[in-house]
Amino acid sequence: MSNRISLTRYLVEKQRLDDHIPGQLRLLLEVVARACKTISHAVNKGALGGVLGSAGSENVQGEVQKKLDIIANEVLIEANEWGGHLAAMASEEMNNIYLIPNRYPRGEYLLLIDPLDGSSNIDVNVSIGTIFSVLRMPEGDRGVEENDFLQPGKCQVAAGYCVYGPQTTLVLTVGDGVAMFTLDREMGSFVLTQDAVQIPADTREFAINMSNMRHWDAPVKRYIDECLAGKDGPRAKDFNMRWVASMVADVHRIMTRGGIFMYPWDKREPNKPGKLRLMYEANPMAWLIEQAGGAATNGRERIMDVQPTQLHERVSVILGSRNEVDRVTQYHLEAG
Ligand code: AHG
Ligand code: MN
Ligand code: MN
Ligand code: MN
Repeated sequence: MSNRISLTRYLVEKQRLDDHIPGQLRLLLEVVARACKTISHAVNKGALGGVLGSAGSENVQGEVQKKLDIIANEVLIEANEWGGHLAAMASEEMNNIYLIPNRYPRGEYLLLIDPLDGSSNIDVNVSIGTIFSVLRMPEGDRGVEENDFLQPGKCQVAAGYCVYGPQTTLVLTVGDGVAMFTLDREMGSFVLTQDAVQIPADTREFAINMSNMRHWDAPVKRYIDECLAGKDGPRAKDFNMRWVASMVADVHRIMTRGGIFMYPWDKREPNKPGKLRLMYEANPMAWLIEQAGGAATNGRERIMDVQPTQLHERVSVILGSRNEVDRVTQYHLEAG
């Protein structure tokens, strides 16, 4: 019991040892973790807390907002805005960037959030989560603009997610590997339960929404067809499939045991690069996956190299076990 390492201790020791975590960033991560605890409690209460169902509004992407999408967004804003560590925030659930009110000091960091990932699973009691990405505010004594957020994923200084499942687990990177913390509800603290997470390079598991098969591009179809052919096919092994439809849960499975996750571009919306959002879904997950030895591309390019042009822009996502991601990427490059 006494040698348990709390998130606080983990961050303090990291700050002391290698200066990976400046004071403001440490505060930011503690505050995000605290907000995730609050969201976790709301999620657990479910119908008893009156948090299920639709809020009756739409977000900038035209998705119907659930009550918990809005509650989680508000919890994250209220927890973060007064601490003096943020210059501004951006969220899936807010059309425009959120500026820190003048009554609070302005900090050095930009926080991007998917407050509640897996909205379609809220009402059916299946794992959901929160995803976050942290960037540094570019230098300059001026107001914050949307442009300041438009940095490629490789500029992130911290990224993580919290999955609200049978356990509540916070998964974090500050650029020197991936650590997992499990929420101890009695103690009210996140406890380090796995450090230096590594994803196996090979896998027999894929995660993709198969109902979109008829809309896929040829390289994706080729890869999945080969997986489905099993032992007798070119891959000479049987594959299993899982699709939770909460990116956090699907990625968490891969973090734990390997696998490949894909939400590729498809013909339903030919003018959009994909369904998932680059800045607060794909980038943080891509960095976590790379930090755990995996890979993440949009089929042609490393996700973290993509230069964003819009806050809410979308991207094709292929991530997970390195050898499988390399294979799918190769199929795209061969197709030209
Ligand atoms: P969000 O709930 O934050 O809008 O994200 C939903 C995403 C992601 O979590 C998941 O991988 C995907 O949508 C599921 O999409 P389908 O319903 O098309 O399977
Ligand atoms: Mn949504
Ligand atoms: Mn999401
Ligand atoms: Mn969301």
